[in-house]
Amino acid sequence: MADKKKTKVLYAAFEAVPFTKLGGLGDVAGTLPMSISSHGCDIRVIIPYLSMISNEHRKRLQHIGDYSVFSAGKRHEFGLYYVKMRGVVFYLVKNDYYFDRPGAYGEKDDIERFAFFSRAILETISCLKDFKPDILHVNDWHTALTNLYLHEEYEEQLGEYDIKTVFTIHNLQYQGKFDYKKIKDVLALKNRKAINAVMHKGKVNLMKCGITVSDCVTTPSPSYAKEILTYEYGVGLEAVLKTKKDVTHGILNGIDYVDFNPAWDINIRVHYTKDLLERRLGNKIDLQKKFHLTENPRAPLFCVACRFYEQKGISLIIKAVPKIMEGGGQIIFLGDGDKKYKEKINEFKKKYKGAVGTHLQFDPHLPHNVYAGADVLLMPSKFEPCGIAQMMAMHYGTLPLVRSTGGLRDTVHNYQPKSLVCNGFSFKNYNYKEFSRALDTVFDVWNNDKKNWTRMQKRAMSEDFSWKESGRKYMALYDALLSGHIDQLNEQFELETVKRAEEAAMAAAAKAARHAEDRAQILKSLQEEASAAYGSVELREKKKKKKKKKEKQKKDNTKDKKKKKGKKKKK
Ligand code: GLC
Repeated sequence: MADKKKTKVLYAAFEAVPFTKLGGLGDVAGTLPMSISSHGCDIRVIIPYLSMISNEHRKRLQHIGDYSVFSAGKRHEFGLYYVKMRGVVFYLVKNDYYFDRPGAYGEKDDIERFAFFSRAILETISCLKDFKPDILHVNDWHTALTNLYLHEEYEEQLGEYDIKTVFTIHNLQYQGKFDYKKIKDVLALKNRKAINAVMHKGKVNLMKCGITVSDCVTTPSPSYAKEILTYEYGVGLEAVLKTKKDVTHGILNGIDYVDFNPAWDINIRVHYTKDLLERRLGNKIDLQKKFHLTENPRAPLFCVACRFYEQKGISLIIKAVPKIMEGGGQIIFLGDGDKKYKEKINEFKKKYKGAVGTHLQFDPHLPHNVYAGADVLLMPSKFEPCGIAQMMAMHYGTLPLVRSTGGLRDTVHNYQPKSLVCNGFSFKNYNYKEFSRALDTVFDVWNNDKKNWTRMQKRAMSEDFSWKESGRKYMALYDALLSGHIDQLNEQFELETVKRAEEAAMAAAAKAARHAEDRAQILKSLQEEASAAYGSVELREKKKKKKKKKEKQKKDNTKDKKKKKGKKKKK
C-alpha cells in the first residue's frame, strides 16, 4: 500500500521554548508541535531570532541562507537559521534592526516588526525548496498578517499550492490595535476587502484580521471558544467571532510531561508518585525552609504562581490574605507583575512573618518546588483562555482553587463530599464573596476531611494533561480542513468528550463499587454524576429525531399544498 502523504504544516509564533518564553504562548509553540508531529505530520515552527536567545542555543543554529522582503517602504534583509529539536525543525528569522532589542513586545514600531515578520514567513515558504506547507498555522495577533499577505502579496509565488490557514487566539485581551494610517505606510494594503478585514472600529486591529481572513480559528480550551462569543468575554470582537462560529474550535493545551513529572523532576528534593504521596511532605518542609516560613506540616500552604495582573484575580487574593492567616494558613507568592500588587505583597511579608513567602521575579525552576510542596494553588482568574499553572500544580498533587472560567472550567471539578470526579475547588462568579466561601470549603476539607483531600490529590495527579490529546485533536483539525469537513468537527469533538465523561464515570463507579461497603449508595451517587453525560447523548438523539420529524412534516406539508394547487388548477 502506498504511504499516506504526510500533511505539512508551518507553525508560526513570536516566541517558543526553549529559545524564547515571555508567556504561555512560548510554552505552547515549543511543545505542541512535537505532539502533532508524532501523528505523522511534518510540522515545522518559525519564530524570530530574538536577542534573548541564549548562547547555548545560538551555537546549535545552522545558517540556511539570506533573503529579503519589502516592508514599510524599505527592503529588509534577513538571515534564515534552523535547528531540529525533538524531531521538529525550527526556523529562526534574523533581522537585527527589528529583533535585536532587550524586549519582545511593546516596542514603538511593533506593527512594522510584525508586518516584516509575517512577510518574512511567506518569503521563507516561497524560498524553501523542500517544504511547501499544506497548512499555515499562526498564533495571536503578532503573526495574524501572514494569513492576509498569503493572498494579498504572495498569490503569484504561492497561489498554486492552495495553502489553508489556521489562527489560534491565546488571549483575546491583546488585539494589536494601531492607527488607521498604518494601512498605507506599513501594511501597504490597497484592496478594499483586505482593508475591511484589518479595520475595526476605526483602527487597525490585527486580532480581528487573523479571525476574519483565516479558514479556521482555534482557542486553547473548549469553554473559552464559547465564552468569547459573548459580550462579557468577547472584548469587542464577539460579533466578528460569531461569523466564524462554525469553524472555531477549542482544543485544550497540555503540559510537558517530560519536564514536569514529580517522579524524576531534578528540581525537587523528594521524588514521589500518586501512590507515594506521603513522601511529598519532605518537599513541603523544604519549601517552608526556602521561603523562611514556620516549618509546620499541618498549616495549609497556599501558593500563587502567575503574573500579578488583574486577569489572574490577584486583587481577590490580596483581599483574602488576612483570612488565610486567621485560618492558620501560609502563602507563597511567586511571579512578577504590577508594582501596586508587589508592594502590597511585600507589606504582607513584613506583617505576617513566617507565614508569607515571596519571590517576586520570574524563575523557571521555582514553580517545580512550589507545586511539589504546596497544598493549594490560588487561581481565581477573571478570564482564562487555558491556564497552565493549574495543570502543572495538579500533576504535582497541589489542589487548585479556581474561578470556573475558560480552561480552568475544563480542567478543575469542584469538591463535593460524595463526588468521585472532583479534583479541586472552584466558584462561579468573579466576586470576593464567592471566592471567600470557596476558601472556607478548602479549610473545612483540610481540617475535617483529610481522606477526601488525599483522594482529590490522587485524582488530580491521574488526569491526563499531556500534549497527547491536543496533538491528536490538532491533527484531526488539519485533516478536516484539508478534506473540507471543518464545520463538522465541533460535533465530533463534543461527542468524544461526552463519551469520555461517561467512560470515566463508569470506570470510577466500577472501581468504587469494588471497594465500597455500601455499593448501592455509591452507585446511586455515581449514576447521578454520569447522568449529566448520559443526558446529553440521549438529548442529542431526541433532538435529532425531533428535527427530522419536523423536516419531514414540512416536506409533507409542501407536497400537500402543491397537490391542492394542482387540483384547483384542473378544476
Ligand atoms: C495566554 C493565556 C493563557 C494560556 C496561554 C497559552 O497566555 O492567557 O490562559 O494558557 O496563552 O495558550
